Amino acid sequence: MNNSPIGVFDSGVGGLSCVEELIRLLPNEDIVYLGDTARVPYGTRSRDTIISYAREDIAFLKKHNVKMILVACGTVSSVLDSVRDECGDIPVSGVVIPAAEAAYKATHNKKIGVIATGASISSGSYDRSLKAIDESVSVIGKACPMLVPLAENGYTAPDCPPARFFTEEYLSPVKELGVDTLILGCTHFPHFSEVISEYMGSDVTLISASAELAKKASESLNASAQRADRKEEGRISLYCTDSETLFADNVRKFLGRDINAQILKCKLV
Ligand code: DGL
Repeated sequence: MNNSPIGVFDSGVGGLSCVEELIRLLPNEDIVYLGDTARVPYGTRSRDTIISYAREDIAFLKKHNVKMILVACGTVSSVLDSVRDECGDIPVSGVVIPAAEAAYKATHNKKIGVIATGASISSGSYDRSLKAIDESVSVIGKACPMLVPLAENGYTAPDCPPARFFTEEYLSPVKELGVDTLILGCTHFPHFSEVISEYMGSDVTLISASAELAKKASESLNASAQRADRKEEGRISLYCTDSETLFADNVRKFLGRDINAQILKCKLV
């Protein structure tokens, strides 16, 4: 048993899609979330900048005595080996491997699409992880940078014209190639699940990288007997590095109006 919180971070509101799944799977766990809203987006930045931001995010979570660190950010997960040392003895997991494993389980025709940030796609992380499972899969990756600011500003509803426009713009080449499975490899993208699913059609399985990471975390806490020893609901602390007002609106939108969470602003440096 371990009553320390689970630490989760992302550049912004994307990782809330992982928190949502964690609350569902592990309702008694305390969670400390960091959304680095002052510096979002990460996915258009250089590898060195992403690594230095990620180190600061990890250092912040370590101060909260977290028992594990979940990198609920495809962009940082794509450079995870370069920041792992910052975590010290704290177990750390990213979204790429759990998403690749789930997509491989789901595909029948071995044609898998990956949508993520420019940095994740150009790193080749999803492609490598899928090919490590089975060299014969075909992977089509597509960067969808505009979906990140849309999510940060709450424009995710299926009837929202910009969400529909950018979904079609980015996904038409992926759809044309006949993928039967699509990895939502940026954690902001599950917020667009309805519009993406409507566009791709019901025969394409969507894999949320966020949800797969939450499942993996739950399995690993159970296997290592590190679950919290409490009956009541866990405390949810959600930190942002910029306006709490916009962040609080997004939290209500993405986690539901009745979410019982503390919303706090913090400084990383
Ligand atoms: N949600 C993040 C990801 O999964 C980052 C998006 C961004 O900041 O560009 O890649």
